[in-house]
Amino acid sequence: MRNAPVSIDQISITRVCNMGAARLVATFALIFVYLNGSQAAKPHIVFIVADDLGWNDVGFRNPQVQTPHLDKLAKTGVILNSSYVQPVCSPSRNCFMSGYFPYHTGLQDGVISPTSPGFVPIKFTFLPQKLKGLGYSTHAVGKWHLGFCNLKYTPVYRGFDTYVGYYMGGEDYYKHTKTFDNYSGYDLRFNTSAYTEPKGKYSTRVFAERAVDIIKSHDKDTPLYLYLPFQAVHEPLQVPPEYENLYKHIQNEERRTYCGMISALDEAVANITNALEETGLIDNLLLVFTTDNGGPYWHASNNLPLRGAKATLWEGGTKGAGFIYSKTLLKKTGYLNTGMMHAVDWYPTFVELAGGENTDPNMDGVSQYDMLINGGPSKRKEFVYNIYDKSKSAAIRYGDLKLMRGSPGSHNDWNPLPQSGERSDVLFQEKKDKFPPYMLYNITSDPTEHFDLSAKYPELVAMMKERLENWEKTRVPAYQPPMDPKSNPALYGGNWSPGWC
Ligand SMILES: *[C@@H]1O[C@H](CO)[C@@H](O)[C@H](O)[C@H]1NC(C)=O
Ligand SMILES: *[C@@H]1O[C@H](CO)[C@@H](O)[C@H](O)[C@H]1NC(C)=O
Ligand SMILES: *[C@@H]1O[C@H](CO)[C@@H](O)[C@H](O)[C@H]1NC(C)=O
Ligand SMILES: *[C@@H]1O[C@H](CO)[C@@H](O)[C@H](O)[C@H]1NC(C)=O
Ligand SMILES: *[C@@H]1O[C@H](CO)[C@@H](O)[C@H](O)[C@H]1NC(C)=O
Repeated sequence: MRNAPVSIDQISITRVCNMGAARLVATFALIFVYLNGSQAAKPHIVFIVADDLGWNDVGFRNPQVQTPHLDKLAKTGVILNSSYVQPVCSPSRNCFMSGYFPYHTGLQDGVISPTSPGFVPIKFTFLPQKLKGLGYSTHAVGKWHLGFCNLKYTPVYRGFDTYVGYYMGGEDYYKHTKTFDNYSGYDLRFNTSAYTEPKGKYSTRVFAERAVDIIKSHDKDTPLYLYLPFQAVHEPLQVPPEYENLYKHIQNEERRTYCGMISALDEAVANITNALEETGLIDNLLLVFTTDNGGPYWHASNNLPLRGAKATLWEGGTKGAGFIYSKTLLKKTGYLNTGMMHAVDWYPTFVELAGGENTDPNMDGVSQYDMLINGGPSKRKEFVYNIYDKSKSAAIRYGDLKLMRGSPGSHNDWNPLPQSGERSDVLFQEKKDKFPPYMLYNITSDPTEHFDLSAKYPELVAMMKERLENWEKTRVPAYQPPMDPKSNPALYGGNWSPGWC
């Protein structure tokens, strides 16, 4: 109960007995207000995740991108400048939901493919389950990508009161269909049932409308947790023309579409914040906006000045664009927060914000309540970027230093903004570069990873290797089961559906 204004157990009886009468009355008045207001006092939390949004794909960093609403929230909130995510989708979402690094849950080797019966083991209590215990109403809208081969791995069985969204990693933005391993099917749900009404409607609008509905019908006195992982701006690159038309000056067609998709997302966030204003929920609310991983430049995204991209251990794959906003809760606003945090930290941070306590001593996440709300120092000095199982590639951070073992991935450049009329994926060919077995970077002095210091500081490499080996002791095997023909949507009325594991 650290966040409550006053709690009874913080006031010892002796102290109360020694107080003067006036202070006594005042104290009991405060306790009374606290007890009565305790439910309402819990802040609402809106957690917005953009998919595949690059470091340099937000207007508050790159004037090419038109995101006036996101920019306003970011600039009047706190821009996160050292907030790390995983290199790809499922692992990052695993962090948001479980508070554990994916090398502790079996998700470290990549995404859950549509036909593979992968999941996050049930022994991990998901954040909405925890928040429900603290009195929250919980709703999820958008992409899941944390397993669906059995109902028990899906959102309404893992703590969400309601769910509108799709189970897999990506699909057509209008048809809501996906073809994979020769199988085709529809993937959009309301709770556990197929939801066909939005067929033909652009997903950014479907999800924004659903979020607005939830907000407008929400009882203000119950704390709300709204998890809002948009499909935008993952491939396929699709957007209604009115958003693409904002970028007629961009020659590269894919970049033009991609920027349009970001502007549609910006409008969606505007619609959502308008609803939060109208209903007054905004007066006691924390809004978080983050990407799930770095941008894929081969789909017209951009991470400059950072090195690498989605699916790599470079900063371009793992340093997430994001910010927080609150009208009332932040002690300090309008600045760039450089404190180190990781995607696993949101879980315990939200639990503390909700007046709860993280009772799991093994959780990788640490609460960054003080850093985010008060502008205090980060509680974190180190983290694991990832420790792959099959490839044994790994990266860790300790203070200024980053150690990488093996290949950081196959996109290792500082890719420029797509300029010409050529297709991005033609412009940027994947290269298989060779790297020394260990690389060492000073991220504080060299955030763009130009200078490998491993040859210069062998003793620091040895120290970092020891730390990595220590982290590695708790690695669980990656769980990536092979393709299962029972996943075929034809067996479930044309829907990608649970029921095959
Ligand atoms: C979704 O689940 C919630 C909670 O059980 C229920 O109130 C709502 O009616 C359901 N909606 C649909 C469309 O199934
Ligand atoms: C998809 O179909 C093609 C052509 O029939 C076949 O060669 C291929 O093995 C199939 N792939 C899978 C994953 O079933
Ligand atoms: C935002 O709301 C307006 C007005 O209702 C609507 O026309 C527009 O499509 C919405 N935008 C998105 C992205 O949902
Ligand atoms: C890393 O860079 C910071 C900032 O320039 C500097 O203070 C620190 O000494 C550097 N560390 C090493 C090991 O070079
Ligand atoms: C914010 O992050 C960028 C990219 O890593 C870096 O270049 C910049 O120096 C950081 N800003 C501050 C104030 O640390």
